Formats: sequence, C-alpha cells, structure tokens
Amino acid sequence: MKNKQTKSLNLKLPALTDKDILKRLKSLGYLSDDFEDVNLLKELSGNKNQDIRYYAISNLAKLADDNLLEFFYLLIKSEKTSRNRREIASAIGRLRSAKAIDILLELLSDADPNIILQSIRGLLVFKKEKKIYNKLIKLRFHENELVQKIIEVEFFDKKNYSKNHSKSPDHLKNTIMLGDTFKILKKVDEESIHLTFTSPPYYNARDYSIYNSYKSYLKFLIRIFKQVHRVTKEGRFFVLNTSPIIIPRIGRKYSSKRYPIPYDVHKGLIDMGWEFLDDIVWAKPEPSVKNRVAGFAQHRKPLAYKPNCITECVMVYRKKSNKLIDWIYDQYPKSIIDDSKVPDGYETSNIWKIDPSHSKVHSATFPLELCDRIIQYYSFKEDLVFDPFAGSGSVGVSAKRNGRYFFLTELNKSYYDEMMRKLGKDLFDQ
Ligand SMILES: C[S@@+](CC[C@H](N)C(=O)[O-])C[C@H]1O[C@@H](n2cnc3c(N)ncnc32)[C@H](O)[C@@H]1O
Repeated sequence: MKNKQTKSLNLKLPALTDKDILKRLKSLGYLSDDFEDVNLLKELSGNKNQDIRYYAISNLAKLADDNLLEFFYLLIKSEKTSRNRREIASAIGRLRSAKAIDILLELLSDADPNIILQSIRGLLVFKKEKKIYNKLIKLRFHENELVQKIIEVEFFDKKNYSKNHSKSPDHLKNTIMLGDTFKILKKVDEESIHLTFTSPPYYNARDYSIYNSYKSYLKFLIRIFKQVHRVTKEGRFFVLNTSPIIIPRIGRKYSSKRYPIPYDVHKGLIDMGWEFLDDIVWAKPEPSVKNRVAGFAQHRKPLAYKPNCITECVMVYRKKSNKLIDWIYDQYPKSIIDDSKVPDGYETSNIWKIDPSHSKVHSATFPLELCDRIIQYYSFKEDLVFDPFAGSGSVGVSAKRNGRYFFLTELNKSYYDEMMRKLGKDLFDQ
C-alpha cells in the first residue's frame, strides 16, 4: 500500500500558536514530490522556537532534495543548538549526494562530536573513494570514543568471529570445582562462558576473606575479572554484585572505615574491556540490615548521620564488542530464542526489591530470586552460566532450574561440599 502523502502544510501562520504549528509539523508523515510549502518550512527553520526549528528541519530532510544543500549549509552555520545542528548534518548526509561531500568533509572538523558522527555517516556512503577513505581512517585516533568506535567497526575489524557462539565446552557444563578460581580460570579456553554472575568476597568484612590491604584486595579482584573477560564470549555479560563495606573501628579512639568497592572496581573493569551497561540497585527491607542510625537517632548531631544501608549494587557489564545484540540473536536457533523469552512479571525499573536469603552454611548467599532475574534477563536457555565465587552455589541452583548449564568455582571446602550435595558432579570425578 502506498503511504499517504502530504501536499501542503495547511498553516495560516499569524493566527497559529507554537503548539499548533508543532502539532502540524510532527504529524506531516511522508511528503509528496509536489509538496508546496518548502519555503514555509525553510522559514520555520529560522523560527525562534527551537522545537519548531527542529521539526521544520526534519521535514525538509524528508524531501532529500539536492537543491536544499546550500540552504542546509548556511543553516548549520547559524543554528546554535546541538540537537538541531545534528539534524541538519543528518539531512545533508541523507541526501546521499556527491555534491554534499565537501560540506561533510568540512563538518568533520566541527567542535561538536555529534556533528562529526553525522558527517561520518554521510561520508560512509562514499567510503570506496580514495579521498574519503583516507580522511575517514585517520579518525581512528580522534579523541572522541564514539568516533573511534565507528571507524574501528567500519574499517579495522578483522576479527575472526567464532561460529560456535551458542555452544559451550561440554566438560564445563554443570561442573563445580574446588580451588582458587584464578588458577582454574587459567585452564579455561577463551570465549567459553555466556554469562557470569557473582558476588566476590567482601574484603575483610567477613570471616572467609583476609587480604593484606584494600589495594591488594582490589588487585586480586582485577586479576580474576581479567580472566573472566578472556573466557567470556563475544559481547556477552558480566553482572557483579558488590556494595560498599565497613570495617569496624578497633577502639573508641579510632574511626571505622568504609570502602566503596563497586566504585573502585568499576574503573578497572572498564580499562580491561568491559562496557558499562546498567546499575541495578538491590534493595532489602530496612529491618533486615544492620542498624547504623541508632546513635544518631539519640543525639541528632550533624556530621554523625549514618543511614541504614539497605542497598547493594548489581552492576551490569558487557564484553566490549563491535557486534550488536542482533548479531548474538542470529547465532541461536529460533527455538532457543523463543524458549528463552522472559516471562511476564519481569522487573521494569532498576530498583529490585528482594528479601535477603539466609543459610546455615554460608553467611552471604544470593537470594534465588535475584539469580533467576539475572539469568533470565541476560542469558539464553542452554547457555553456560559461571560464578567464580560460588559460595553455597545459588547461581548453579538457579541456572539449573532455568534450563541453563552452570560452571562454579569455590575455594572453601565446606562450601564446596555443600554445593556438591546440592548440585552434583565434579570435573575430576568423571
Ligand atoms: C560473597 S561469597 C559468594 C556467595 C554466593 N554468591 C552464594 O550465593 O552463596 C564469596 C565466596 O568466594 C569464595 N572465594 C574467596 N576467594 C576465592 C578464590 N580465590 N577462588 C574461589 N572462591 C573464592 C569464598 O569462599 C566465598 O564463599
């Protein structure tokens, strides 16, 4: 069916409010070849209301008319807002006209990275031309990260992408290993894991973790997370649960010390090649956490206020990749994609209210509801889900009940024994 086409703007200007004009501009749809009100749109592109200017420009862009090139060129010089200038640059690119090349090349030196990105998009149409190619590849070293990325993807991505993205090594499937996760990970092949969800030791805040210093603790985590990055498949996810912790004071003369673990680890993760996606907040009921506010409640003196900490961070990262999520979908059979559809009732906000769980065996277990959400939202059926600091094995239990495979490592023998009781076989027993 042919789209309905608009022939005129139908505006009696002096009588109309900005709201009316905007409404009309937004509702225009496709413009017909004999659209009559080009001059009116041009006039509105200079209106004092920036939204009217924006929609006038985006309607002019629909005309894809070479004759507007000079007009767009003058307009981008006079327009002040980044959003409208971006729309003009996009309009110039969408002309796909060789006549626009010089203007697009000039815009590559614009101070606004949004304009540069739009110019690149426009120029990519002509990337086979030597002159354009040479100009574009130089932008690989541009200071803006998004500019670098688009050039990298278009010209320098020579990676041999695995054809087995949806598969994982059989010997790791539903396996629990006792030992230092770093040593175990060294033996795991790269690109073996689909999803890692973990909560590392809390520095020296609990009995099972003793490190010389906070610095050495962070180094310990970074070393392990580099291995996690290596074994993670193209563009897949790493979800890290941590929270700031407190080391109590050793006497009345001294103060307690708080350590912002998630914020300190974050920079290291980015530097090693994880891309930050989301910060989910796990919120617990206030009565379930340590009461820190009781002292303040008595004296109410400023500076001594200490809120009850009911939240933990659940940070979502993705292994940096030139491939989009759509590429990942294409790696799976349709039946798996269909089977993995997230059921109704999924969480819509980034504040997840979940009660903490308690275990006789382990002092800091994940609630299964938290694991279920992470596994359902960030993996497919039959994927391999990894927890390097498995503790009581909640990630394994959740992976199993959600139709995924698990791979767990744990240093502590009694936690390992408990997991084996719950979940089964060991690699070395086979
Ligand atoms: C916060 S707990 C994880 C609890 C787990 N999420 C659960 O649901 O039970 C951290 C775990 O990491 C383990 N651990 C500490 N250092 C380790 C290492 N180098 N390799 C493997 N596990 C380690 C500890 O024994 C502890 O059980």
